[in-house]
Amino acid sequence: MSEDGEKSRAELYFRLTAMLLLGAAGFLAAGVPGWPRWLAALPAALLPPAYYFFCLRRLAELASGGIGETADFVLGPGRPLVGALQHRAEIIPFLKEFFPAPPAAVAEIGRAKGGTLALLCRAAAPGALVVSLDLPGGAFSGLIPLLNKGAWRAPLLRAMAGPGQELRLIDGDSKLPATREKFRAALAGRKLDLLFIDGDHTWDGVKSDYENYAGFVKPGGVIAFHDIQPGFEEHGVAVRRFWLETALPGARAEFIADSSQKSYGIGALRLPG
Ligand SMILES: C[S@@+](CC[C@H](N)C(=O)[O-])C[C@H]1O[C@@H](n2cnc3c(N)ncnc32)[C@H](O)[C@@H]1O
Repeated sequence: MSEDGEKSRAELYFRLTAMLLLGAAGFLAAGVPGWPRWLAALPAALLPPAYYFFCLRRLAELASGGIGETADFVLGPGRPLVGALQHRAEIIPFLKEFFPAPPAAVAEIGRAKGGTLALLCRAAAPGALVVSLDLPGGAFSGLIPLLNKGAWRAPLLRAMAGPGQELRLIDGDSKLPATREKFRAALAGRKLDLLFIDGDHTWDGVKSDYENYAGFVKPGGVIAFHDIQPGFEEHGVAVRRFWLETALPGARAEFIADSSQKSYGIGALRLPG
C-alpha cells in the first residue's frame, strides 16, 4: 500500500475510533448519578448519523480513486452500511484484469448495500453508464434486509458514481416485465459491456435474470454470475447448478479465491464477439 493509502487508512481508523469512544462515553455517562438521561443518551444517539455521514464523505472521496482503495473501504470500515458481499481476491482480478478496456456501460442485478456497485463504478470508464437494479429488502438480502431499504440510502449510492458517470437506480422485481422495461429505458438504446447477476439466487431466479437481461449485453460483452461455489443449496441457492448445467454461449472463466470455500466465486461468460 502507498504512503497515501497508509495515511488515509490511519485517518479512517482514527475517525472510527473517535465515533466509538463517543458512543462508549454516552453509555458510561448514563451511569453518572444526577445527569439528565437525555444528555447521557446524546452521544450514543449521534453515533448512527455520524457513521452515515462518515460513509457518505468517504465514498465521495473514493469516487475519483482506484478499485483497491474502494475495496479497502467497502470490505472494511464501510462494511456495516455500504458493504460488498464479495471476496477481494475474486472481484478485484475480475474487474481489473478481465476487461481489455474499462467498461463504458455496466449493470448489476442485486445491489444489497451497494458495495459491489461502488466497485463497478470504479472499474467503469469515466463518463460510463452504470445501472443498478434491486428489489430492496428482497430474498438473499443479508442478515438485516431492512437495512437495504429506504430513501436515506440513495445519497450513499449516488456518492459512488465517479466523475461524469451516469448512475441509474432501479427498484423492482427483476422477473417482472415492468422492471425489465425500466431497465431498457435506463439503457436508452445502449448495450452493456458487463452485466453482473447477483440477485435472486434460486434456479428460477438466476435463469430468469439470464434470459431476460442477457439480450442487453453487446456481442463480446461479459455476463458474470456471483456465487458459483457450492453453498446454501438448502436455502434454494442454485447459481452453481445453473452455471454448470446450462449451455451458455461464449467463453467461460472462473474467479474463485479458494476451491474449498463455501459460496462466493464469480463465473464470467464472454459472449461471442
Ligand atoms: C446477495 S444480495 C446482492 C449482493 C451485492 N451484489 C453485493 O455484492 O454486495 C442479493 C440482492 O438481490 C436482491 N433481489 C432478490 N430477488 C430479487 C429480484 N427478484 N429482483 C431484484 N433484486 C432481487 C435482494 O434484495 C438483495 O439485495
